[in-house]
Amino acid sequence: MPKWLKDAIFYEIYPQSFYDSNGDGIGDIQGIIQKLDYVKQLGCNAIWLNPVYDSPFKDAGYDVRNYKKVAARYGTNEDLCELIKTVHKKKMRIILDLVPGHTSDTHPWFKQARQAKENKFSNRYIFTKSVWDAPQEYRLMCGLCERDGNYMVNFFSSQPALNYGFADVKYPDWQLPTDHPDCKATVNALKDIMKFWLDMGADGFRVDMADSLVKNDNTKEATAAIWADIRNMLDEEYPDAALVSEWCNPPVAINKGGFHCDFYLDHIGNGYNSLFRGGSWGDKAFFNKNGEGNIRSFTDEFLSYYEAAKGNGYISLITCNHDTPRLTEYLDEEAIKIAYATIFTLPSVPFLYYGDEIGMRYLKGLTSVEGSYSRTGSRSPMQWCKGKNFGFSESDTTYIPVDSDEKAPTVENQRRKKGSIYKVVKDIIKIRKKHPEFSADGEFEILYAEENSFPFVYKRGKYVVLVNPLDRLADVKFEYEIKSELYRIGEYIQSWEKMTLSPQSFAIIEI
Ligand code: NOJ
Repeated sequence: MPKWLKDAIFYEIYPQSFYDSNGDGIGDIQGIIQKLDYVKQLGCNAIWLNPVYDSPFKDAGYDVRNYKKVAARYGTNEDLCELIKTVHKKKMRIILDLVPGHTSDTHPWFKQARQAKENKFSNRYIFTKSVWDAPQEYRLMCGLCERDGNYMVNFFSSQPALNYGFADVKYPDWQLPTDHPDCKATVNALKDIMKFWLDMGADGFRVDMADSLVKNDNTKEATAAIWADIRNMLDEEYPDAALVSEWCNPPVAINKGGFHCDFYLDHIGNGYNSLFRGGSWGDKAFFNKNGEGNIRSFTDEFLSYYEAAKGNGYISLITCNHDTPRLTEYLDEEAIKIAYATIFTLPSVPFLYYGDEIGMRYLKGLTSVEGSYSRTGSRSPMQWCKGKNFGFSESDTTYIPVDSDEKAPTVENQRRKKGSIYKVVKDIIKIRKKHPEFSADGEFEILYAEENSFPFVYKRGKYVVLVNPLDRLADVKFEYEIKSELYRIGEYIQSWEKMTLSPQSFAIIEI
C-alpha cells in the first residue's frame, strides 16, 4: 500500500477545460503547470489527470489511439514529463487515466484486427466467427470490417472492446478463455503501457471501467484476477504507485482485485446518490434542506463497503466528476458547503472535481462536444477571474462555451467572498491535513444516523462531526464534554445532554 495515499486529497483535472496557455481555446499541459500553485494552495496534494493521449476524441480522449503519446493539442510527452516533475517538486502526486477496456477504432491494433488476413492482432479484440453470427446479448458492430465477423464494443460504437477473454465461454468458436495466450498478450500490452508512464514518474492510475475486462464474468472474479496480477507487478516493481478503480464495488475491486482505492460512484439509487441527487433531481437527497432525505441509504451501504475494505484499501468519495452533473444542479450554496465538509471528513481518499471548489454551475442545454452529451454541462472551462472567458483562454471561441452568466463564481471572487464555498473547502482540507484523525485510515464510528432523521453525527478519533442539512433546527442527544471547537458552519448549542444545531450547519468538536 503506497503510504502517501491515506493522506492524499485529489484534485481532478479535465485537461481540455482547465487552463489554455497557448490561446487555441482548449486547455493544455503547460496550462496545468502554470496553475499547479493554485491546486497546492487549495490544499490538494495529488492530481488525477483525465486522458491526455493521442485520440480522435469521439469520447473526449477515452478512445485512445496511441497509449504512449500525448495528444498534440495538449502538448508533447516532454510536457507531460515536465508536469510530473513539477508536481513532484511541489511535493504533490499525479495519477494518470488508464483506459484498459477498449481503444479507439483508429488504434493501429484495431486496424490490423479488422483485416481479413489473420495476423498478430486478430485476437486483440473480440470478433464473432462470421458477420451472420451476432448474438443479441452482446453489443456488436456488424458488417463494418473486411474481416468476416462482428466486433464487440465496450462503450460507444467507436470503442471496440479489448480481448481479455470470457469467464464463461458460451460460443467456443469465437470466445476465448482468459488463459488463452492471445488474452494474456492483451494483459501484457496493458502492463507495458503502465510501465511506460510509471517509468516516466507517474504515481499511478485511475482505471477507467476497471470491471469491464473479462466478458461473461458475472461474479467479476476473473476480471479481479487480472487486476490482482497487475497489483503484484506494482508491489514488486513500483510499490509507491497507486491504483484507483472506477468500479464502485470495494469488496471485489479492493479485496479481490487489489485496487488501493475504489470510487463510490453516482449510481441511481445507491448510497452515494442518496446524499446529493436522490429522488427526481435531488428532492430526496440527504443534503437537500427539505428534509426528505434518509441518511441510512448512505450509511448502510457505505459502512458495508468500509468494513469490507478496511485494512486493504480505501473508498474514494468524490465531489463530482466529468461524468456527473455538478452539485450546484441540485443543492443551494449552504447545502454544498456542508456536503463538501462531510465528504472531506469521512474516512475516504477524497477527490475534488475542478471548479467544484468555487461552486461552478452545471451548464444545462449545451450541445455535445466530443461525445460528452449530458456531461457537457460539467465540463465547461474553469472560471479563474472576471474578463474574457473568465481568464481560461485568450481565444475567441473555447472548446466548450464558458458560463454565460457574468456573475458566475470565479477563483478571484470566491477568494474574496466571506464564507464562500472556496473558503470552506480550503479550511476543511487544512483541518484534514493537520489532524491525522481525518486521514483515510483514521478511526470512524457513527454516533447518530437514523432512518429519516436528523442530524448525522460521527466520530473520527477524538473529534465529533455534526451535520444538519435541514432548513430548521435539529437536535440530538450529546453527552460529551466539549473540549474545543475545530470548525463550524452555523451554530450549535449544548444544553443538558442535548446538542441543538442551527439550520444548515456543520461542526467539528473535540471531546
Ligand atoms: C468512464 C469515463 O469516466 C467516461 O468519461 C468515459 O466516457 C467512459 N468510461 C468510457 O471510457
